[in-house]
Amino acid sequence: MAAAAESGGHRACFVLGASGETGRVLLRELLARQLFARVTLVGRRRLSLSEEMGATVEQAVVDFERLNEHAAAFRGHDVGFCCLGTTRAKAGADGFVRVDRDYVAQAAELARAGGCKHFVLQSSRGADPGSRFLYLRVKGEVENLVQAVGFDRCTILRPAVLLCKRQESRPLEWVVQKFLGVLARVFPTAYSVPVETVARAMVATVLQPGKGRVEVLENGTIHELGKAVPEQGT
Ligand SMILES: NC(=O)c1ccc[n+]([C@@H]2O[C@H](COP(=O)([O-])OP(=O)(O)OC[C@H]3O[C@@H](n4cnc5c(N)ncnc54)[C@H](OP(=O)(O)O)[C@@H]3O)[C@@H](O)[C@H]2O)c1
Repeated sequence: MAAAAESGGHRACFVLGASGETGRVLLRELLARQLFARVTLVGRRRLSLSEEMGATVEQAVVDFERLNEHAAAFRGHDVGFCCLGTTRAKAGADGFVRVDRDYVAQAAELARAGGCKHFVLQSSRGADPGSRFLYLRVKGEVENLVQAVGFDRCTILRPAVLLCKRQESRPLEWVVQKFLGVLARVFPTAYSVPVETVARAMVATVLQPGKGRVEVLENGTIHELGKAVPEQGT
């Protein structure tokens, strides 16, 4: 595939969290740009995709509580994208830690063992292992765990509040998004970022050579990178 070759010879990637708000847009971007000859979705359920998408996408349905039994799902990918996550409101504090830290770290380990060279992690602004807030602490912890896996290249994105038309009902987030959506007209890169921009920034990271083994991209840089990649009518 020509585009795959142009992007530096990337043959295969996997996406964790492709059914989520960011992951869904990322998948569309990856397929529209034909960056990879093979795209594997690793998730807890099979997604119904359009015929066109289904033809180039493989799906591995895994039990995240027994991820070690699914090493094969992660094998043979050059790049891994992770948009996995839940909320404390949805999963409880323990469930949140399990998904946002443990599942992600275990998946990263399996990916590395399976030959993945570049791991792209969607984290959050303010991620800090020393934070007294559970959300930011867990995000900081997972960043450290993923870095420690030892990928040739590890890209961590720290977006601010995500702007999207969320399918799931999260009333508080809806109010915050409405407010920040208006504020974004004045300060577009300060407090929020559209999921489309995050997805394009993720794409941009694989199109560009890395700056060091670990790159941490804050919200302003995500906006810049997202803009650097031309829109695909998403
Ligand atoms: N919301 C914000 O403003 C914000 C800001 C900065 C960073 N972030 C972070 O960005 C990341 C992506 O956010 P998003 O809003 O795009 O994600 P999202 O829409 O909440 O989607 C999350 C994804 O994770 C999967 N997932 C959730 N719980 C799971 C479980 N128990 N087992 C397996 N898979 C599970 C979901 O799969 P199913 O479809 O099967 O549930 C879905 O694919 C998250 O890590 C989030 O913390 C969010």
